Amino acid sequence: MSRSAHPAGPRHADVLPEGHYTAPATDLNVLDEKVWSRTVTRDANGALTVGGIEVARLAEEFGTPAYFLDESDFRARCRAWADAFGPGADVFYAGKAFLSRAVVRWLQEEGLNLDVCSGGELTTALDAGMPAERIAFHGNNKTVAEIERAVEAGVGRIVLDSFQEIARVAHIAQGRGLRQRVQIRVTVGVEAHTHEFIATAHEDQKFGIALAGGQAAEAVRRALTLDGLELIGIHSHIGSQIFDMAGFEVSARRVVQLLAEVRDEHGVELPEIDLGGGLGIAYTSEDDPREPHEIAKALSDIVTRECESANLSTPRISVEPGRAIVGPTAFTLYEVGTIKPLEGLRTYVSVDGGMSDNIRTALYDAEYSVALVSRSSDAEPMLVRVVGKHCESGDIVVKDAFLPADLAPGDLIAVPATGAYCRSMASNYNHALRPPVVAVRDGEARVIVRRETEEDLLRLDVG
Ligand code: LLP
Repeated sequence: MSRSAHPAGPRHADVLPEGHYTAPATDLNVLDEKVWSRTVTRDANGALTVGGIEVARLAEEFGTPAYFLDESDFRARCRAWADAFGPGADVFYAGKAFLSRAVVRWLQEEGLNLDVCSGGELTTALDAGMPAERIAFHGNNKTVAEIERAVEAGVGRIVLDSFQEIARVAHIAQGRGLRQRVQIRVTVGVEAHTHEFIATAHEDQKFGIALAGGQAAEAVRRALTLDGLELIGIHSHIGSQIFDMAGFEVSARRVVQLLAEVRDEHGVELPEIDLGGGLGIAYTSEDDPREPHEIAKALSDIVTRECESANLSTPRISVEPGRAIVGPTAFTLYEVGTIKPLEGLRTYVSVDGGMSDNIRTALYDAEYSVALVSRSSDAEPMLVRVVGKHCESGDIVVKDAFLPADLAPGDLIAVPATGAYCRSMASNYNHALRPPVVAVRDGEARVIVRRETEEDLLRLDVG
């Protein structure tokens, strides 16, 4: 799903004759800083360290598989987004990418807001002390109970996703004598260049209310008449893992057009627009993501320009990056178990995790890279497929990559850029125990989400 073809050959071939792939020109011991978090480096012995701690020590203390999250990198990325957008805009971290109480505290300390999309995420946010007014609540089918909790907690905004929800939220707020701040999520009808399952701005899908056919204008009309709602703006999220700013520009333009129509029809200038998240990150060396300041400039330029030409005052902009903040900050550490060379094809390297800790390869054909991290090696590169220990052949973590040919059981290998949508989409398939998330910072490592235990599994099984 990364935008680029695999550097070493075609992407979608299941079986390739040897020689079809060319071995990488780069030394496998050299870490590409594009895909590794900021404090990752190799020590004098060739072993990988993060936050100053060697991976072998981390594996010994916390076990494998495990996610190691570079806390100072996470905080630096939060600050980069906040600084890029400045005090005149709001950055909401999309909690679906990865959420825990520690993360919520870091967000507060770094001045970010939080986007949640379920009762569970809302509970985590509130429990960790995020002020409700800094929370945005999303979702195409929020339950009545979830809406009630969000309204009672006083969340800063609810993003309305359907006509039914406009009525539901209005009714719930009004019944409590409250006026809930809301935005309306629209689908702007652009094709984002990303995997179909994570593209969200075309009209044939479940999210949002279409601009086309006057649907969104009708939603605004209804929301403005309801006492329980304070309509503060329009929201658009076009998809995920996007590199090309063109989709955001079209989206911003169309949202501003709607604001102008609203002004013309109702004499009201809605004060905010939210352009969603979706900014791509580097999963492999081939990906070239934009920096937050470039993104901020591109978005604010287009909104300012469009507003000037529509004679509107420029609304306050908000954005909702998830992957771009947490994705690059973590890697998954695995221990190599079995190795199966297939003459003339490739070598299957089985690790102690798999699709239960990273479903993205199986689900989106996502690309990742991998490195031997417990030592360096001067052996020749060998073409590998890194697979998990689950009972199906689609259990692939890294489809095509190179590792040194002297790889052996017991070696530690790591897959970088697994901070987003890996732990948050992890499962108990085959009764796997979901791995811990360990935050590493300045020579200290601490568990922020503990490893599941067999007792956890049995506790839920009450039959
Ligand atoms: N805002 C809204 C309304 C969203 O629906 C999403 C993601 C985001 C922000 C954050 O998007 P990000 O910046 O993280 O790309 N499981 C998929 C991604 C699904 C994204 C869902 N919505 C994956 O693993 O690629």
